[in-house]
Order: sequence, then C-alpha cells, then structure tokens
Amino acid sequence: WDIHAAEKNGFPHFMLKEIFEQPESIKNCINSRVTDNNITLEIENINDETLKSFSKIYIVACGTAMHAGLVGKYIIEKLARIPVTVEIASEFRYKNPILKKNNLVIVISQSGETADSLASLELAKKNKIFTLAIVNVVGSSIARLADSVIYTWAGPEISVASTKAFSVQMAALYMLALKLCKLKNTVEYDISKYCKALKQVPYVAENMLKLNDKILDIAKLFYKSQNMFFIGRGIDYYLALESSLKLKEISYIHSEAYAAGELKHGSIALIENNTPVVAIATQENLYAKTISNAKEALARGAKLFLICNEENKIDKSLTNIIIKIPKTLDIFTPFYAIIPMQLFAYHVANLRGCNVDEPRNLAKSVTVE
Ligand code: M6R
Repeated sequence: WDIHAAEKNGFPHFMLKEIFEQPESIKNCINSRVTDNNITLEIENINDETLKSFSKIYIVACGTAMHAGLVGKYIIEKLARIPVTVEIASEFRYKNPILKKNNLVIVISQSGETADSLASLELAKKNKIFTLAIVNVVGSSIARLADSVIYTWAGPEISVASTKAFSVQMAALYMLALKLCKLKNTVEYDISKYCKALKQVPYVAENMLKLNDKILDIAKLFYKSQNMFFIGRGIDYYLALESSLKLKEISYIHSEAYAAGELKHGSIALIENNTPVVAIATQENLYAKTISNAKEALARGAKLFLICNEENKIDKSLTNIIIKIPKTLDIFTPFYAIIPMQLFAYHVANLRGCNVDEPRNLAKSVTVE
C-alpha cells in the first residue's frame, strides 16, 4: 500500500473515493483465486478433506463485517448446504458458545484489530477450533492469530464508514462458498456458471457507479427526513441492514431495517405521511412479496424508494423513485444493490453538512471494549 492509496485523488471525501474503488478492489480480491470456470482459492493450513468435513460454521464479526457475514451465511448455506450461524462478536465472546471439533469459526474484520472480534478468535482457539480470518489489513492481530487467512486486498480504507471492505468481504465469502460447494459437490449446476458471474462483478459494479448523479438527485428528495426504513427479504434483508447502518452512522438520521414481512408485526405503526421507505427487491422469487409489503407502507403514506431488477415491470402508482440493477444470477445482486445504497447514504450525509469521513462518536477501528 503506497502513499497514493491514502490520498483522495480528487474526490471530496475518502468515502466517495472508496465507493468508486470497489470494482478494482473486487478484482484484486478475486483475480488470482477464481477463473472463468473454476475456483482456485487456496486456504492454508487445512486440507480439502478437513475443509469439507465441517458440519457447522460460525461467522463472527462486528458492524459492516457482520453484515457481510450474513450475506455469506446465505450463500454458503445455499451453495454448500452447511449450516452457518452469524454471531455479533461482543455477544459471542461471553455466551459460552457450543463449539465442537468439526466446527469452523470464521472471523471477519477489515482492520483485523477489533477488540471483540479478536477476543472471539482467542476463544475459538482456546477451544481448539480451526479458525479462518477474512481480513484486509495485512499482519494485523486477527490475521496473525488465526490458523488461516483470506486477505481481501482492498487497499487502505480510511473513511470510518466501511464500503469497499464490505464488497470484498462478500467476495471472499462467495469464493469460500464456491470452494466448499465444489468439494462437497452440492450444486446441480456446473460451478463454472457461478465463477463466470463472479468474474463479471467488477465490470457490472463499474456500471452501477455511473448512477451517481441520479442517486444524488434521489438523495435531494430525502435528506431532510428524520426517520427512514429499509426493507427487504432474504439476502435483500441483509443488505437493508447494511444500508441502514451506512445511512445512520454518517447522516445521523434515525434509521431501521426490517425483514419486509416483519413490518406488520409492529414497526408499520411508525409509518406516517412521507416517511421514507427504501425497499430492496432484487430476488425474483421474493419480488411480489416485498412489493406487497411496500404497498402496505404506501397505504400508510410512505414515500417509496425502490431498488429492483431491470426486468421488473413497475406499476406507476407505486413510485417513480427507482434504481434498477442489471439482471444477474439472483445470488450476485448484493454486489450491485449495495452501490446505490452506499452512494445514497453518502449524498444524504453530505447534503446535511455532516462530516462524512469522520462521523461523531465513531472510530475507524474499535480496539477497546
Ligand atoms: O475493522 P472491522 O471490520 O472489524 O470493523 C467492524 C466495525 O467496527 C465496522 O464495520 C463499523 O461498523 C463501520 N463503521 C461500519 O461502517
């Protein structure tokens, strides 16, 4: 990492620069580890037999890294059919978790120095569980302690709000899922279909960044709001959690994320005239369901911002605030849907005059409890 990587290169903020670096970071993360038709990811200190024998995986992390872990859980369970539990590190370390010999503990951390994640790793090691770290900072404490490391190679992330680290953490988890899936022979499709789609991610992400001006216009419609809700189902729910975190940490707008079907179990009571609701609906099999939840919010006066696929036909009465992502295999949509959400949070915060790169009360790396 050289000094230029730590400069803004003409961008007004590190956050914006890092959002725009995502295609390059993903390329760096996947290039030597996946080809157009095969997964070549190496995981040191463990052989394939042991790797495929894990009966349960714990993913432990904090904040954005934990949200990447949730996406990873979805993908690993779908492709490799291994049960995955995602744990908040500050909870995991004190809950006396049931760790068994054939479990794998994955700790995800951009900085590799987060105190709770490090303590969780130490706990797993004490229980003699194989530990794998997904880390960005080379030689960091977590990287040094774990039995094996997948470095994400995103380059330095300066902005407190994590953006490119999220995308590469997802990329690392997708590669791991593909490797496990190949070893266990669990998918009906030829694995090359997924490898090809993963190799395409940096190029499609590049196109998503071209929506920056449009997203600025959308941010202008919402930046004065006091509350915001993000909804989604399945993998989109995890993106909603990350989008909501991004918005609240830099814009100080109160924001919550819900699994869309949960809205009517309580939170819909908070929706009144002009309450912004961002619906992420990128999964074909769940699209109609999420739209139906969005309609429930609309009926209570919500102002709807919709993220969906380019192929979805949208009823004009629903909303005209729409971002469409290109058609891809359903499991790859998080790489594309997260970009408008990061840009949205960035522009909203900027329009409100917030200190985007250094939000109040937050540190880049939480090295104390
Ligand atoms: O360095 P880490 O990935 O371990 O950090 C974890 C969280 O502190 C971090 O993701 C935090 O939530 C960010 N501010 C989110 O943008």
